[in-house]
Formats: sequence, C-alpha cells, structure tokens
Amino acid sequence: MISYNGYEDTITRVYDNNQEHVFKFWDELTDAEKKSLLEELSDIDFQHLMSLYEKTKEDEPIPMDFQPAPYMPVPRTDEQKKEYTRAYDAGIDMIKHGKVAAFVVAGGQGSRLGFDGPKGAFPVGPVSDKTLFQIHAEKIKKYSEKYGVIVPWLIMTSPANHQDTVDFLKEHNWFGLHEESVHLFPQKMIPSLDPDGKLVLADKHSIFKNPDGHGGSLTALRQSGVLEKMIDQGIEIISYFQVDNPLVNIVDPYFIGFHVLQKAHISSKALMKAYPEEKVGVFVEFENGKIGVVEYSDLPEEKQYEKDDEGSLRYAAGSIAIHLFDCRFLMDITGGGSLSLPYHIAKKKIEEYTREGEKEIQGYKFEKFVFDALPLTDNNFIMETTREEEFAPVKNKSGIDSVESARELMSNLAMNWLKQQGISIPPEVKVIEISPLQAVEPGDIDNHITIPAKEKVYIQ
Ligand code: UTP
Repeated sequence: MISYNGYEDTITRVYDNNQEHVFKFWDELTDAEKKSLLEELSDIDFQHLMSLYEKTKEDEPIPMDFQPAPYMPVPRTDEQKKEYTRAYDAGIDMIKHGKVAAFVVAGGQGSRLGFDGPKGAFPVGPVSDKTLFQIHAEKIKKYSEKYGVIVPWLIMTSPANHQDTVDFLKEHNWFGLHEESVHLFPQKMIPSLDPDGKLVLADKHSIFKNPDGHGGSLTALRQSGVLEKMIDQGIEIISYFQVDNPLVNIVDPYFIGFHVLQKAHISSKALMKAYPEEKVGVFVEFENGKIGVVEYSDLPEEKQYEKDDEGSLRYAAGSIAIHLFDCRFLMDITGGGSLSLPYHIAKKKIEEYTREGEKEIQGYKFEKFVFDALPLTDNNFIMETTREEEFAPVKNKSGIDSVESARELMSNLAMNWLKQQGISIPPEVKVIEISPLQAVEPGDIDNHITIPAKEKVYIQ
C-alpha cells in the first residue's frame, strides 16, 4: 500500500474499493503530481460511483405509463392567434423590464464533430463563417439594443474547455458585449469507468472524467453564485439553450409571455417529429400527472408508431432542449445542494493512458439530462415551434444534423424572412445569411435593401 502524509483516508478508500491500479505509476511521480492525484481521488464519492456501475448491469428502468403531453400549438385558429397576441404583450413587458437572461450550455465534448476546441468556436455562418459563439453573442447584443436593456449571457463550460472558452471570447473582445454582462462558470466532472468498474487513468497522475451532462447545469448555475447574482439584478427568467443550435430564438416574446401568463416554473419548446424513428425525446404526461421527456430509445415501439384519430403521430412533440426556467424555482430545487437528477449511462469511447501511449477503450460515462428537471414541478408549459425557424443542431461532421445541414437551414430561414418582408431575391442567389446584428426576426430587416445578383449574399 502506498502512503502519503495527510491522505491516509483517501488512500484507504481507494484500496477498499479495489481501485489501487490508479497508483501504478506512483514511483515515477513527482511530489506535486502525487499530491494532485490524491487530491483528485479525495473528491471521488466511491460509493455513489460503484452504485452507478451496478446500474450498468441492469436495464434502465422503463418509464411509468404515460400519454402525450399537452402543448400550445403554432397558432392556426383566431382564438389561438388572440392568445399569442396576449402572450406577446406579456413577454415584451418582461423583456423590456430586464427580467430575462440567456443561458447557453457549452460544456459538452463535441466528440461527434471532432473539433479541436470548444464547440462554440466552430464556424457555421453559411456565408460569413461566423462561429456559434459569435452568432449567439450578436443575437444577444441585438436583443439588448432592440429592447433597451442588458440581457446577461451565462455560459456553462466544463473544466476541460473553460480556459479555452474564456480566451476565445476575450480574443474576440466578447463579440461586442459588455464583459461584465457575460458570466462563465464550469460544470462538474464525474469519473468514467472501464467495463470492469475500474477508474481509468487519463495520464500518470490523473483520472479520466467526463462533464456531468447538461443536467449538471442547474446545480452549476447555483453553486457558481451566478443564479443569486442574476436574482439580485432583477432577473426572473433564465432562457436555456444549447451552444450547437445557431437558429435558436433566445429571447422570444411569445414564449416568455406564455411562460409568465401560465405561471410556469419550466417552459419548453417542442417540434413535431418528422418521422417515427427520429432520434428526439418526446414530451409526455406520466400517470402521476407530471410532465417529462421520454428518450427515443425508451419509447416503446407501439407508442413510437401510434397514430391519433387524424392519422398523425400521437407522440409527436419532440424536445429540442430550449427551455425557460423561473429563477425562484431554480433556487428552491437547488437549495442546499439537494438537486439530484438521475445519471444516465452511456457506453462510449474513452482514451486510457498506458505506458505504450493512449489506448481507446469502451467504457461507461455518466451524464445528467436537463429535461429530468421537468417532473420536479406541476407548473410546466410546452409551446410548439417549427424546425425551419428554430432547430439546426450541429452534431456531426456531415449528413444528418451536421454543419452542412445547419448552414442550409440558416440560409433557408434567411430567404423566408426576406420573402415575408416582400424583398425580392434574384435567381442567382443560392446562399444567403443575415447577420443577427441586422435582424433577430423578419420585422427587423430594413425593407429598402436590394439583394445583389450573386451566388452568396451576406446581409449585415
Ligand atoms: P450533446 O449531448 O449533443 O453533446 O450536447 P456534445 O458534447 O455537444 O457532443 P457529443 O455527444 O460529444 O458529440 C448538447 C448540448 O449540451 C451541452 C453541449 O455543449 C451542447 O450544447 N453539454 C453536454 C454540456 O454543456 N455539458 C455536458 O456535460 C454535455
């Protein structure tokens, strides 16, 4: 057994949990490295980790019985249009009183995209090549100018990309935002395990970990002190979105208005699934009356294909990770570190450090999902949106949900906005992009602009 003054308990716990292989390079470590490894190990809750490992041997629990969750559809009838108008007014009132903050989760590893750097630094503008961060920042700048307020921007990173994210934003001068209105904080990490339930070394003196999932964002928001800071500044609503969706309408008066009128604690946007097998979770109402999301992989086959009386998919409302959270509600559920969303298990590739170099193994990563917070309240609200207007996820290098598809969706939306404003587009134009600084909705576009007859057009 190894020994080190002051860390006797930690060392005993490591041996008691049969994890002593983490000391395999002990004799080669400097004193500082030994201390840093022990410090890392002292933070690990072995009992919890081993209970998660036990769960990898069982099937994930089948969700309770459920039916489709109710949602506010895109307005079609006069009555619905009136409701939308009422919501708009309520939303504008909240926004203009400076009660809304934008919150992006950007702590993911972007492994499918395979980009070396924070995902937000990935260029996606179809003409401008602007990065995801720049697009989000410019939207926030535009909302702030348009409504005469400062919309704070909260960014959750992970310890693995925090410094790179700070450096990137600094280097670009915060994309024109006030530095004091941008708040970055890292989420927690949790050790991954190999197939035998063993910790994995990331190098001779550190343990392989993964960020604890976007569900870790609610605790991170609280523990960083940023949630309280926002409340002190008069913020009441946190608008949550993912870094890889350049189409998200971050400050949407309709959505915010409904959230307020419905006195919701959590509101969510839904889009209608394009086909039964589409890989998005669906909104459901469980038999205890709570609203939640059932992942596509947990949706029983008969429900996946079930049709309603009109022949449409019954479980059609898909979750696209756009939510509004009531700040007081977040304070309540995160009080005293009491929020314990469940961990989901993913079998994924892990890079293990060996003397021969890095070795790729299949292991277990544990992640929390933000939508598991939905059943924590009786006050949920869901609003339909459309794919064309709000969902262009950048997940893969090519194909479905890729950079190419996102660029195409951004260009299509720009074309639609121009058409809606009665602006003619010459047939030569194939790709078009509108800077968020020019418009975050069609009504912002200057009606007098002329679109040049060339293949790629950028409106700034
Ligand atoms: P994804 O689950 O799609 O993961 O994240 P990812 O990291 O972007 O990509 P892959 O799966 O490794 O290829 C959806 C959103 O949640 C954030 C991501 O940054 C992205 O905005 N996220 C995910 C976190 O902030 N933290 C996490 O631990 C996981």
